[in-house]
Amino acid sequence: MWKADAVGIIVAIDGPAGSGKSTLARGLALALEVPYVNTGLMYRALAARALERGVDPDDGSGLLALLSTLTFDLDRSSRPPELSIDGAPPEPALTSADVERVVSRVARHRDVRAAMRDAQRALGGSGAVLEGRDIGTVVFPDAAAKLFLVARQDARVARRGAERGGEVESEVLLGRDERDAEVNPFVPAPDAVELDTSDLSREETLARALAAVRARIGRS
Ligand code: DC
Repeated sequence: MWKADAVGIIVAIDGPAGSGKSTLARGLALALEVPYVNTGLMYRALAARALERGVDPDDGSGLLALLSTLTFDLDRSSRPPELSIDGAPPEPALTSADVERVVSRVARHRDVRAAMRDAQRALGGSGAVLEGRDIGTVVFPDAAAKLFLVARQDARVARRGAERGGEVESEVLLGRDERDAEVNPFVPAPDAVELDTSDLSREETLARALAAVRARIGRS
């Protein structure tokens, strides 16, 4: 009953790397039966293409031209429906160290961000759970529910290591945080619910997030 009512709702999940956004966003999208959009992968896809084509990550207009060669869509055959890039699921190479090194620089350009914002609105506008850094503040400031995830540094480094199947240097993660923060200070939307995931299991995080979404939407 409540799920059916959830169709069309937009949930924004923001927070730094390793705070547990992806696992939570996918779980929430499944529970609410709406698509899941990982907006970080969109910036990563542009960074990967820039590396492939030799476009300088500091060349904003070159990147904007390159962005128009990428197609973002929803793959409705997956559960939950998820982002597809050029008609295929996002490639594992998007999480490579090479991409990780340049993605903050790629995400720095105002025009690139504006074009990404438009693409993200087109993908999520009919209802979705979207994760990123600026979803609740810029992309969907009117989202029905907004969650801002935080976690202690040690928990974020450990989680990222588990996701990547090995050790992650804390300097790499924290260095990227610093560069990210120059572009987009991690300021939660004033109406976001903050959730510290440091000591929470996936299930606990999902249960708390669902409770927050339900409270926001005013149903039980
Ligand atoms: O969430 P992630 O680590 O996959 O994000 C990859 C990069 O993209 C990260 O450096 C921050 C940037 N990003 C952004 O600037 N805005 C978003 N909405 C999502 C990601």
